[in-house]
Amino acid sequence: MSARNRVEVMHGVNLDQLGRRPAAVYGELTYDRLQQQVEGYARDLGLQVRFFQTNAESEFVEHLHRLDGLSDAIVMNPGAWTHYAWAIRDALEIAALPTVEVHLSDIGGREEFRRHSVISELCVATVSGQGPEGYREGLARLKKELSA
Ligand code: DQA
Repeated sequence: MSARNRVEVMHGVNLDQLGRRPAAVYGELTYDRLQQQVEGYARDLGLQVRFFQTNAESEFVEHLHRLDGLSDAIVMNPGAWTHYAWAIRDALEIAALPTVEVHLSDIGGREEFRRHSVISELCVATVSGQGPEGYREGLARLKKELSA
């Protein structure tokens, strides 16, 4: 069997706007720079990453439907969808791939509505509040999962 090292890094709504969002919460990194950083983390870990971002929930769901055979694991930051998008939760269940949920900000320490995640029960881990570094931790967790 070939190495299981393909990780889909999926970003949802408004994450393409990093750099324009409150810097005190999200830092100053743009989405492009975040991708470059995540690519570097993946390289260090011997993982192959592919990126996907959309502001359309239906595209996010359909992307999950298409992952079968193309990816071995997922790093997912759905943005605000995290807190209410049950269709994304169900699509993630269909994809049935080991997934780590990552949030740049500490969703447990912000507004009440951010405290609940509809996807966390399906994820092998959640990393929250560590900024871009959280993606390194997420990828490392998946690397372990894929080599188990
Ligand atoms: C976020 C947290 C969400 O609550 C928010 O809606 C986002 C980004 C994060 O990465 O911290 O858009 O997922």
